[in-house]
Amino acid sequence: MSPSPAAADSVLLRAARGMPVSHTPVWFMRQAGRSLPEYLRVREGVAMLDSCMDPELVVEITMQPVRRYGVDAAIFFSDIVLPLKAVGVDLDIKPGVGPVVAAPVRTLADVAAIPDLTPDHVPFISQAVQGLVGELGATPLIGFAGAPFTVASYLVEGGPSKEHAKTKAMMFGAPEVWDALMRKIADMSAAYLRVQVEAGASAVQLFDSWAGALTPRDYAEHVMPHSARVLAAAGELGVPRIHFGVGTSNLLGLMGEAGADVVGVDWRTPLDRAIPMVGDRVVQGNLDPTLVFAPTEVMTARAAEVIEAGRAATGHIFNLGHGVIPATDPDQLARLTEFVQSYALA
Ligand code: CP3
Repeated sequence: MSPSPAAADSVLLRAARGMPVSHTPVWFMRQAGRSLPEYLRVREGVAMLDSCMDPELVVEITMQPVRRYGVDAAIFFSDIVLPLKAVGVDLDIKPGVGPVVAAPVRTLADVAAIPDLTPDHVPFISQAVQGLVGELGATPLIGFAGAPFTVASYLVEGGPSKEHAKTKAMMFGAPEVWDALMRKIADMSAAYLRVQVEAGASAVQLFDSWAGALTPRDYAEHVMPHSARVLAAAGELGVPRIHFGVGTSNLLGLMGEAGADVVGVDWRTPLDRAIPMVGDRVVQGNLDPTLVFAPTEVMTARAAEVIEAGRAATGHIFNLGHGVIPATDPDQLARLTEFVQSYALA
């Protein structure tokens, strides 16, 4: 299979390619998941990573927000550490904590011990994507992978981290280990994206959630070349590439230059400041995810500002500035979706 022909003319793909659209496309990072009662119901008694390996469950969970909100894209239900799990790395996703790795990676031998990902490791991913593309019809499916720095942080720290100190210590102090690790993850993420696109995903997002911890110099020198390899490999598949990170106001230009078609902007950087930094690339974002807790008219007034600011870009995909917060009221996201989709662009 290849990218879904039915979705080729969708507003999401048109906007991602800088083409005119009837309305600003809208989807939400983490639109599936803990904010939805129907998600909590189907996940009862099933561990997070087990749910990612069950194609029927992945189809159901990915479809839930599409059915509920009528968003302009589905995001594949999986996790950035799933490929590592699939090749045999001993890790778990602990509820309320995040990914935890049993034996953190510190040496060249540790890196070498991580197998490369082949499609045979993830047959359930291809099955889930194929099932989804059938159900989604003209709604595009966004596949995703973790960027090398963000995935490396979990592997090196052994779990979530604020400072990423051990990760950066490897980056600064053991360049040959760092380089090997980044190459290993870049190849894995590229392979994981390929599986998703070959099964029918229409676009991909590379999540470098923790890249904002880096100075532009260190990003450019130690991280960007590896993310660029992933994005170049995805580019060969012919689908638009979205590149997102948090706290990246100093990095937006570089994240675009790494080979993105669309640069995701978190909520801290107003789009009118982000757009000159990304040049003629498309932007995605960036309503503060806490604004859905505000009165509806406050939320929609801010959403209107985001849409208006986005008009100065080559193209704009509406999103929150990071993932949906678990306590979010789904009805408020439904109102936000409806507001963005009916906002007159003429
Ligand atoms: O957006 C979606 O709805 C698609 C699914 C998705 C998940 N993880 C499911 C998930 C996506 C796109 C991700 C990506 C991901 N995973 C990122 C990058 C995105 C970002 O938020 O910056 C990162 C950093 C991870 C690692 C990870 N996995 C974290 C930090 C957590 C949260 C820990 C917690 O419980 O607070 C997870 C777990 C996770 N991944 C959940 C979901 C729905 C929650 C687990 C559950 O429901 O039990």
